[in-house]
Amino acid sequence: MGLHAKGMVAVETAVTPEHPAIVIIKCEHQSLGYVVRTLQHVLHEVASHKAEADFKLMAAMLYYIDTFPDRCHHPKEEEHLFTRLRNRNADLNAILDRLQGQHVQASRMMAHIEQTFVHWQAGAADGAAAFTRAVDAYAELLWDHMKQEEDHVLAAALQYLTDSDWRAVDDAFRANDDPLFGTQVQIQFAKLKRQIINRLPRKLRPRVYPDAAGRER
Ligand SMILES: [Fe+2]
Ligand SMILES: [Fe+2]
Repeated sequence: MGLHAKGMVAVETAVTPEHPAIVIIKCEHQSLGYVVRTLQHVLHEVASHKAEADFKLMAAMLYYIDTFPDRCHHPKEEEHLFTRLRNRNADLNAILDRLQGQHVQASRMMAHIEQTFVHWQAGAADGAAAFTRAVDAYAELLWDHMKQEEDHVLAAALQYLTDSDWRAVDDAFRANDDPLFGTQVQIQFAKLKRQIINRLPRKLRPRVYPDAAGRER
């Protein structure tokens, strides 16, 4: 709890560091949110005739949005965080059921997004508009979902999880050797995100982004 001994007196430190699991959840939300928001920007540029449709770029973004949550994010939330929270406080079952339902709903929405994407590329009359509506609907769900997790679930976790719960949750989120969401998978998605950024029109790229050697450019 941020206590350390100074001489014979225990002194409380001013800042309590966040649990690694909380930092990782927020970082993964930021990554996913960044790609979705950028896809919305790209679509806006196309609709206002400021840019040509770059289907290869959008396909890479869809691959990221479709796969990253299922490979890197939702399994850890459900298996390690939600399960322990349910054990500590059954009153949380309602919100956790709703959030797990949204994980499933998001996958269904992605299937629809990908269908509209194919129709657009095949020349459907309202292809771009239908794809944009599908992406916007997914984004609405995502913002609501991530806000509920950050505002309510993480707050409940801090309130109800025990120290041993936190050790297990932090260890699970930090695990680097898991074949499902370990380091190699994380590296693949970081690489994919870099490819997406490099392909973006210059004005849509983040102002500061570290290169492979860690330099900012
Ligand atoms: Fe989630
Ligand atoms: Fe999440």
